[in-house]
Parts: sequence; structure tokens; C-alpha cells
Amino acid sequence: MLEHLKEQPADKILMLMQTFREDPRTDKIDLGVGVYKDPTGNTPVMRAVKAAEEILLETQATKSYVGLAGDPAFSDAMIGLVLDGAVARERVAAVATPGGTGAIRQALELIRLASPEATVWLSAPTWPNHPSIIKYLGMKMAEYRYFDEATRGVDFDGMIADLGALKEGDVVLLHGCCHNPTGANLNDEQWKETIALIKAKGAVPLVDIAYQGFGDGLEADAAATRLVAAGVDECLIAASCSKNFGIYRERTGILMAIARDAGQTKLAQQNMNFLNRQNFSFPPDHGARVVTTILTTPELRADWEAELEEVRNTMLGLRTQLADELRRLSNSDRFDFIAHHRGMFSRIGTTPDKVETMRANNGIYMVSDSRMNIAGLNTGTVPLLAKAIIDAGV
Ligand code: LMR
Repeated sequence: MLEHLKEQPADKILMLMQTFREDPRTDKIDLGVGVYKDPTGNTPVMRAVKAAEEILLETQATKSYVGLAGDPAFSDAMIGLVLDGAVARERVAAVATPGGTGAIRQALELIRLASPEATVWLSAPTWPNHPSIIKYLGMKMAEYRYFDEATRGVDFDGMIADLGALKEGDVVLLHGCCHNPTGANLNDEQWKETIALIKAKGAVPLVDIAYQGFGDGLEADAAATRLVAAGVDECLIAASCSKNFGIYRERTGILMAIARDAGQTKLAQQNMNFLNRQNFSFPPDHGARVVTTILTTPELRADWEAELEEVRNTMLGLRTQLADELRRLSNSDRFDFIAHHRGMFSRIGTTPDKVETMRANNGIYMVSDSRMNIAGLNTGTVPLLAKAIIDAGV
């Protein structure tokens, strides 16, 4: 049997992690996978996470199964964090999932169950795992223009023109904040126009929000997702706790389905529970319980928010420093977009060849599409990166 297997395409982000590990150079710089690193290069366990884990260690009396949807308190806490009352609670069905990827996977499976012929529209570019999972599930997909290679901002006219071809029942995948891989995001007016168009076409938004708190702050980063939820009859939201709680390996995420009314919410919930059962039965609990403990304990929540702000401001500082350094070296403002982008990533918009030159000559690892993880930098490595960018002729 196993001899019939064919080699599967490798994920370029994970492949890069491996190549980085194997590089013996001590001055190499990892700007690949989206993981936050502090100025010493460590990905810390957040203070509130440690404190919540201590509470759990002392108070948890059982490790028995929870429900298929996970702990209802986790759903309530996350619905509060992401939606903050933007829609009535009775319209929100939710299941805990293994990370944000698990939420995306379950969302797509739910779409396939409800509407097997629906086309899922993805921004060009998007996180590579989006098209990969859609293809694996045998679903239809299409792309809408998103990134303007010249300005490194959003090609909003192109996006609206492409979404003009939406058919009723199609699904539009949107990044709630901190677009991955580009770092370029819609402004409020553009969000409103996009939502109005999706609604007019009778399409369904699927919002992937994996970086809430990494862009302009916890509330600002959720604003677009809340606008979407409040502005349409139905939508799906996949949220991740990996980044903003720093619990990458705990696999903590949630899928929410906003339905038209309480009756349809119940039906969606039943189907989502079913899908969890088919794929993994019960979702992971530890990370979810840590998140719930933090969000429902005022002191822990305040400390978590403060630390998340430190993380966010560190990344913003690195963006400004890098843009300034490049302005100086290039004697131009053509890299100012780095300071305007938000989240962990910026796509600098260069060729795979030049990305490879920076890897070979300077030990700088960014994804071949020229996505760099800003959080992989520190104040000492920013000048090295800036020089490498200029030397490579970007
Ligand atoms: C990334 O885009 O680097 C992260 O979301 C990690 C991943 O799973 O790809």
C-alpha cells in the first residue's frame, strides 16, 4: 500500500525553518516562520500564560473529556475578545479547534458540507496553507487581486473589480488584520465597501484572524471582523490564539459561525460538533483553558494585554527603525511602506533570486516570495538586514 504514495508538495515556510536550522553560520537571521522573538531571540512564555498554568496545575481536578465543541467558557471568552457584542450571542455557533489552521480546516469542511459547489476566493497572495487545504479538500477556488507590487500597498481597485465576479453563495476569505504574507491592510472605508459588495453579491465572508493585537491593538485589530459580522447575515470566523497568547505549540483556536437566527445557529453548531468528531473528536483543552483563565481573571487579563502591547510596540519600533535605515541607505522613501505595514510580516516585493542572494551572502532567511517576519529582527540585526537589502539590489 505505502508504495503507492506520491511525494507531497513541501510547505515553503516549514521548509525554510528546516534549512535555517541546518545552516551552521552563527550570524544567520531567521525572518521565516511567523513566530515572535524577543530582542534576545527567544520566544517567551507570556507572564499571564505561566500564571494561568500555575492556577490550572493547582486547581484542575480532572483531565476527562470535555465536549466536542470544547469548553463553553472558552467559546464565550473568545467570542467576547473577537466580537465584543457586535452580533447577538444567540447567532454565534463556535467550536474549539487545534489552532488557527484547525479552525480554517473546519471552516472549509463546513462550507463543503453546506455548499459543495461554492468557490472560495483568496487574496493574491495569501497564506500558502489556505490554497493548499482547499485543494486537498477538492473545493473550487479563485483569486482576487490584493497586493500592489509597485506601492506595496493594497490594490483596492483590482480587488473590487475581481470580486465583482462573485456568485451567490461563493465564499470570500479575508484576513481580519495583519495580512499574511504582505502586511498591507484595508482601511476602514475599504472594509465597508468590501462588505457592501460581498453582501450585494450574496456571498459569505470567511475571516481569518490570527494576529489580533499585533497590528494597531486588540480592539483596533478586531474592528474589521466586527464590521463584517455585524454587516452580513452569515459569516465564518477562524481565530487563532497561537500568536497573541504565544502558545503556538498548544494548538488553540476557534471557529465561529454567525447564522441568521437562533434556529440556524443551532444547526450550524450541530454540524460543527459533528465535524470535530469526524476529524479529531475533542479539541485540545490545555491552551484553551489557559486562554479562558486569562480572559476571565481581571489581573491576568490586564497583565496579558500589557505584555501584548510590549510585543506590538517592539515590532512597530523595528518597522520604523528598518524603514529609517533603508531611507538613509537608499537615499529614497521607497521602503517607507515597511513602517505602514502592520503585523508580523512585510512583503518587500522582490524576486526569489534576490531573496536567495540575501540567504547565500548574508544568512538572511525570508520566504521566497520576499515575506519577512519583522519579529525575527532586533535593533542589532536591523542595520544588517537593511544593508543586505540594498546590496542585493532590491
Ligand atoms: C506563518 O505564516 O509563518 C505562520 O502562520 C505559521 C504557519 O503555520 O505557517
